[in-house]
Amino acid sequence: MLEMLTPATHSKYVQFSPLVQRIGGDGAEAWLTHYAAVAARERGEDVIILSVGDPDLATPAAVIERAIECLRAGDTHYTPAAGRPALRAAIAQAHRARSGQAVSGDNVVYFAGAQNALFVTSLCVAAPGDEVVTFEPLYPTYPATIEVSGARLVRAPCTDEWRPDLAALGSVITPRTRAILWASPNNPSGVVLNEHELAVIAELAQRHDLWLIADEVYAGLAPGGNVPSLAARLPERVVTLGSLSKSHAMTGWRAGWLVGPTALAAHAEHMAMCMLFGLPGFVQEAAIAALGVAAAAEARAREYCAARQRRFAAGIAGIEQLRAATPEAGMFMLLDVVASGLTGGEFMRALYDARRVSVMDGAACGAATAGCVRICFAADEVMLDAACDRLRRFCAQDLPALAGAAKRA
Ligand SMILES: Cc1ncc(COP(=O)(O)O)c(C=O)c1O
Repeated sequence: MLEMLTPATHSKYVQFSPLVQRIGGDGAEAWLTHYAAVAARERGEDVIILSVGDPDLATPAAVIERAIECLRAGDTHYTPAAGRPALRAAIAQAHRARSGQAVSGDNVVYFAGAQNALFVTSLCVAAPGDEVVTFEPLYPTYPATIEVSGARLVRAPCTDEWRPDLAALGSVITPRTRAILWASPNNPSGVVLNEHELAVIAELAQRHDLWLIADEVYAGLAPGGNVPSLAARLPERVVTLGSLSKSHAMTGWRAGWLVGPTALAAHAEHMAMCMLFGLPGFVQEAAIAALGVAAAAEARAREYCAARQRRFAAGIAGIEQLRAATPEAGMFMLLDVVASGLTGGEFMRALYDARRVSVMDGAACGAATAGCVRICFAADEVMLDAACDRLRRFCAQDLPALAGAAKRA
């Protein structure tokens, strides 16, 4: 009889690289409830997914039209590994306008989303034995994306307001530290790093010769579309990551980039060459169209996020087990669930089992948020209202029942 190979039996026959351990850790587990919810939705079941940052806005019409036009015109062939020169120039212009850094297309490499750009940056700046520092709370895919290089992700603690603990930051830097990585606006907290925080980071970077990796995926959602940046001040060491995913509701287009020193861009281009061999031309042309309407698209995304955040906050007001932190920017909110008596992970699983609302365990963003769940409020209004209703019922009915059952057991 033929033996079926499963992930558990496979390694009896051939060995995997140690890399597979580094990319399959806690971060991957954090998505299990989300994946279960997506599978349930695909089966037509009644689930509400607030576990991922994918706005229910449509991609701007001009962007879609441009992609269709290019497809019809036969733009379906290989493209340059680093991205088309016109797109790299448009990204450089947008970056110049936001950060004040003097850059050209030579500083830019286009990737399949900021996630892809971070992966490449990680491999270009860190190696086994190195350390990369980030602050809690952190975007759950950072550990795997940094540790794929063999480096270790070191988590610096945060204050009670989810801001970087600047005093502690210096103490986690060692001779092995190669880079400091952060997202501003932050996912999950919505914190936008201020000038003082950046000045402390800049001083540490200069003192210890560090790369600075600024993940600005949510920059267009920051107040006025502005995020304080170190790129113009420290152009030789800052790598800025960006994308169209959040600002233009283009998550599925996979259009992102890095902007950094030309030497890094050259290495990143080599990586793009062996990893991607060029990304779709019609998407790149659509991305140029998207950058042309960025001001309007970003303003739309900001208004949308602000309105949904207010709606969600009003919908859960008065639920005594939940304490909501108002984000400065972005599409996520941390809900402190400590008063429920559950950890974030227990709350996430119980809520999904009882009411089919999928949220993310705050522990996926670090120990500081283990008593929280992260919710994305960038969702359809009817869904959002239903989610608030289900949360209210869960807290009023299911939590007391669960506590009673636990006492009897
Ligand atoms: C902080 C952060 N960085 C990067 C990404 C990935 O973005 P992209 O869709 O551009 O790959 C996300 C997506 O949620 C994110 O929250």
